[in-house]
Amino acid sequence: MKIELLESFLTGHHEIDEDHRNLVETINLVSEAIDSKEMDQCKSLLDSFVEVAKNHFAREEAILREIKYPGIEKHCEYHDGLLERANIVKRLCQDMAERGKLKDCFEGMANFFIDDVVKGDVMFVSYLEQVGVTKKT
Ligand SMILES: [Fe+2]
Ligand SMILES: [Fe+2]
Repeated sequence: MKIELLESFLTGHHEIDEDHRNLVETINLVSEAIDSKEMDQCKSLLDSFVEVAKNHFAREEAILREIKYPGIEKHCEYHDGLLERANIVKRLCQDMAERGKLKDCFEGMANFFIDDVVKGDVMFVSYLEQVGVTKKT
């Protein structure tokens, strides 16, 4: 399984979109590691995935705070929930050396990403346009 950052997933904000691209890349590396049974590598990639996600959320929150996005508190809570979930998935993956189960874990990871970008970030896309941070395409 490989995920892609589709055009419709882009927020129009360069920094945020770069971060999302990074997240996609890390997720795909985890997937490759699972497929080639590189379990040690898989574990360290999962660590870096959580790091990348954490840094992304912090950056995104700072950007939204700066432009006074009214939904900021809710979005922060949403991020906290996602991080909690990511950590649970990470722990699960560390306990499971079995490839089949790891694959399920990975699906969880991919869903986690989709949750942030599609369900969460889509909420502020029109606000970014409204305040002139991004241009309508
Ligand atoms: Fe995001
Ligand atoms: Fe977000």
